[in-house]
Amino acid sequence: MKIDILTLFPKAFSYLDCSILKRAQEKKLVEVNLTNIRDFSKDKHKKCDDYPFGGGAGMLMMIQPLYDAIKSVKKRNSTLIFPSPKGKVFDHHDAQELAKKKHLIFICGHYEGVDERLFELFDIKQFSIGDYVLTGGELPSMVMIDSISRQIEGVLAKDSLSEESFASGGLEYPQYTRPAVFKKKAVPQVLLSGNHQEIASWRKQQAYNETAEKRPDLLKK
Ligand code: ADE
Repeated sequence: MKIDILTLFPKAFSYLDCSILKRAQEKKLVEVNLTNIRDFSKDKHKKCDDYPFGGGAGMLMMIQPLYDAIKSVKKRNSTLIFPSPKGKVFDHHDAQELAKKKHLIFICGHYEGVDERLFELFDIKQFSIGDYVLTGGELPSMVMIDSISRQIEGVLAKDSLSEESFASGGLEYPQYTRPAVFKKKAVPQVLLSGNHQEIASWRKQQAYNETAEKRPDLLKK
């Protein structure tokens, strides 16, 4: 999958060079390309923001640099994504669906927002990562890219996806590693039993309990 990111702050994306996302890029499963929207400004000072018509607080991102930046990377099969508190709340299912796409373009807004005509000129999916407001689309883009990339075959170890939270609609069971006893706290005995059937059944029950306690809304779905 190719991921283009259009942003005024390319440096913010250094996180993508760490851990699993770094390996996904090394394995050529994901190719990330950063574009600085400012490079497309036709203003002599490379200005990309301006006051809103009609007045009001803050600045808006101007349409021209955004339009040209999108045009420079967009192909026929591209899916355009704009992180926004106005978007659909991004979930596990969205991550799975977007992981099937060949080319994603993340358009990062900043300041008070963007000129609304952007959404008339292009077909853009808007996603929110929760009911709170962030300063720009950079962090939400990284959140979505992380979550989408781990759904791409080969990015994670085999079987990691089928067990994790939300894969079957609920939360994952609790897990433990060595030592078996720490500060007098022992791991559940069944996990040391070597009985795979009992372990599977214990985990299923624990996953249910965990979901019922922490996210009962998921059980209703
Ligand atoms: N931009 C600002 N706030 C946001 C949010 N909650 N989700 C996605 N993009 C945003």
